[in-house]
Amino acid sequence: MAKITYQHPNGTVTVVDVEAPNTVMRGAKLNNVEGIEAQCGGSAQCGTCHVYIDPANTLPLPAMDDVEDDVLYGTACERSEFSRLSCQLPVSDAIDGLLVHLPEAQS
Ligand code: FES
Repeated sequence: MAKITYQHPNGTVTVVDVEAPNTVMRGAKLNNVEGIEAQCGGSAQCGTCHVYIDPANTLPLPAMDDVEDDVLYGTACERSEFSRLSCQLPVSDAIDGLLVHLPEAQS
């Protein structure tokens, strides 16, 4: 279980507890967190689960693979060095306390 915080573009935050083996994307969908569309259902194809990892993050996240890297070039909001696909971020105790920022738009 990990506590994940989703910060919306207007500054409000939604904090939810997410069980493994879900992803950060699935945690948002299961808890009705607005701002993540996830049109492809988590197969790293649509880019509508784009999030920005908080710049101060020190929690261990998996390395980005080539597929995720390619999809992040096609997201609705500009990619940054903190961009990730939330469907490619598995939830575990190791990322308890993760803060992600949601983009202004997903599509
Ligand atoms: S849900 Fe489609 S890329 Fe993540």
